[in-house]
Amino acid sequence: MLLDIDRIRSGYPALAEGLLHFDGAGGTQFAAPVIDAIAETMRTAVSNRGTASVPARRSGEIVAAARSAVADLVGGQPDGVVFGPSATALTYLVARTLSQRWGPDDEVVVSRLDHDSNVRPWVQAAAAAGARVRWADVDLATGALPVEQYQDLISSRTALVALTAASNAIGTVPAVAGIAAIAHAAGALVYVDGVHATAHVPTDVVALGADFYVTSAYKWSGPHYAAVIAAPPLWETLHPVKLIPSPSQVPDRFEYGTLSFELLAGVTAAVDHLAGLAGSPAAGRRERLLGGMAAAEAYESGLAGRLAAGLASIDAVSLCPAPPGRCPTISFRVAGQAPADTARILGEQGICVSHGDYYAVEYFEAAGLRATGGAVRASLYHYNTADEVDRLIEAMGKL
Ligand SMILES: Cc1ncc(COP(=O)(O)O)c(C=O)c1O
Repeated sequence: MLLDIDRIRSGYPALAEGLLHFDGAGGTQFAAPVIDAIAETMRTAVSNRGTASVPARRSGEIVAAARSAVADLVGGQPDGVVFGPSATALTYLVARTLSQRWGPDDEVVVSRLDHDSNVRPWVQAAAAAGARVRWADVDLATGALPVEQYQDLISSRTALVALTAASNAIGTVPAVAGIAAIAHAAGALVYVDGVHATAHVPTDVVALGADFYVTSAYKWSGPHYAAVIAAPPLWETLHPVKLIPSPSQVPDRFEYGTLSFELLAGVTAAVDHLAGLAGSPAAGRRERLLGGMAAAEAYESGLAGRLAAGLASIDAVSLCPAPPGRCPTISFRVAGQAPADTARILGEQGICVSHGDYYAVEYFEAAGLRATGGAVRASLYHYNTADEVDRLIEAMGKL
């Protein structure tokens, strides 16, 4: 299946500004149906759920539709989808809740490939519980997160393994299923950060072996809202701190305060947008999502190869390595130039890239790059084109 990129691009109002967006990893632009769904919800009467009124029932339907949409996106169950304002907030919630059971005999395993939002909540929860933290290292020569090290890191003491499904810094896609198998054999839970990966590859939380999978809709054309997905029976075993009158059932008991109904309508629209990328309209939404995301992955992989080759051909540019099968997220530095300056010069030409450590602090610390400004990141999304990539490479060649 091929993507009709012109059709896709015409569905993003912000692209009409003419800027070159190479910062999908920091957040994509909004698809028109997402904007419309949010505005439409705000123009229609909604109210707190729980009464028989039309607005209350409408809110309930919006929440149910969003749970079902996100479940389709990741291969989970609607009753296992918990919403919250950000992946960071949700990971703190799960860390705080899970760590109620931890003590000095327990260990958690985190990785130096991860965004800090899948590191610090575990490190801090472990410290509060007196549990030990163990670290998985990145092979800096290849950018891989070697699976074998997990054989040594995981034992019967391991309560939890936290790792990313894809690096937002260098694009590495670790062997999550293999690592999860080691964790499960030892009786540990696996918390997967899918914030970067969900935008780029078909997702199947069961195949990944993710007991928990967190994702943020603003990385895949949706609003700034997030979800963490787990099987309902697993949620049933967990009891977050909560208000006395707030719902006690799963998944609602994990959701603090009133959900954003308008953003949830946008989340559903974003999932439907991804489902409409390439699939046959006759298939179910899950099948269309798998087809559409596979097409996006193939397309983005071609663009990433073109970008990596183009950057590598410029003498002054050095790339942060990532193993084959990477996401289309490339970090690099220009010799003699601070990453912030490279990003500024490109930004002045309307070329939007990111710079710094993008919160992947452990990777950049280990790579010895953090003290000198991290790197420049060009991250691609399925609305980018080969022409845009060529324009970035050309601009880089003139730096
Ligand atoms: C890989 C990864 N994990 C987690 C996050 C944090 O997501 P949120 O902003 O929803 O807390 C980000 C944000 O950039 C990310 O790229």
